[in-house]
Amino acid sequence: MTSDISTGTAQEAVALRADLLRRVEDRLRSLLDAERGRWAGVHEGTVVPIDALSELIASGGKRIRPAFCVTGYLAAGGDPGHPGIVAAGAALEMLHLSALVHDDVLDDSGTRRGLPTVHTTYTRLHAGRGWQGEARRYGEGVALLVGDLALVYSDELMAQAPSPALPEWHRLRSEVMIGQYMDVHAAAEFCADARTSRLIARIKSGRYTIHRPLVVGASAAGRGDLAAAFEEYGEAVGEAFQLRDDLLDAFGDTAATGKPTGLDFTQHKMTLLLGWAMQRDEHIHTLITEPGHTPGEVRRRLLDTGVPRDVERHIDGLVERGRKAIADAPLDEVWRTELADMARRVAYRTS
Ligand code: IPE
Ligand code: IPE
Ligand code: MG
Ligand code: MG
Ligand code: MG
Repeated sequence: MTSDISTGTAQEAVALRADLLRRVEDRLRSLLDAERGRWAGVHEGTVVPIDALSELIASGGKRIRPAFCVTGYLAAGGDPGHPGIVAAGAALEMLHLSALVHDDVLDDSGTRRGLPTVHTTYTRLHAGRGWQGEARRYGEGVALLVGDLALVYSDELMAQAPSPALPEWHRLRSEVMIGQYMDVHAAAEFCADARTSRLIARIKSGRYTIHRPLVVGASAAGRGDLAAAFEEYGEAVGEAFQLRDDLLDAFGDTAATGKPTGLDFTQHKMTLLLGWAMQRDEHIHTLITEPGHTPGEVRRRLLDTGVPRDVERHIDGLVERGRKAIADAPLDEVWRTELADMARRVAYRTS
């Protein structure tokens, strides 16, 4: 599945990737449109969960997972004309949608990509119409099903990818759920443990976002030999990605992220940020667990510990580790540079 086409200039390589990513968008769209068409004639109500996914896609998102998948593929010399890589990129975004819809129920979050979350929308609809039963149970039930539907679609898409990508896909899917369980459990226990916080950042997020999409792409191109370098790069950059997400939750701007700010405090998420801060200032534990605190108070106290600056330094170290991991990998220089840029873009993003 590798191509003879030389990578050419950086501009050509990036244009090639942009074209593949456009085709990923089209693939997502065409799958949902076809499903909608198939169901619309059965009963008007059946299209609701499909439309919920279409709306989530239309509302934005950075498409990081398809970008790493397609980059891994092209960097591995994969043939850009092969439709299987487009399906793989679309599968990764579809799995991400599933994880997001479920995550917002788990985290009791009201906003995603600048719009009300799926469970919030359907809870409000139920309450507004005065339907039978509990509004929240209805809303969360709809979100469970919408997330499951995306999970099933993601698998349908990945079935069209080159088969060498499948073992990595299987590892990726189960890992996200185990990671999410660890996240929920650590929030319930709320005991500071930096090693566990870092592990959670990787298994609930970093691996399915960066490490494994890169390996899915490289495997689809028949280049399993790149897995070790991509793993080392992805472990580091994936952790940086999630630590930035945690910093944005604490100090970011809702208008830019499209998500609530301070939610990890109210949900007592055992992030590395909070774990380190609690080790330095015991009062932060009380501030988070006892009712009545404002995110502003927690933020001030966190800044006083100096931990946000240390997390920034840790992110710098991870980005550097990512760069070194691919320094000697058998990659075209164009892709080595691009992967180093992508590491910086995900680690220092503002949204
Ligand atoms: C959000 O991921 C969920 C996490 C794994 C932290 P992104 O930051 O990639 O979200 P979108 O896709 O751009 O909305
Ligand atoms: C979510 O992590 C990870 C997955 C979606 C699997 P977060 O809970 O930190 O993501 P956001 O901040 O809600 O996007
Ligand atoms: Mg969340
Ligand atoms: Mg979460
Ligand atoms: Mg978060």
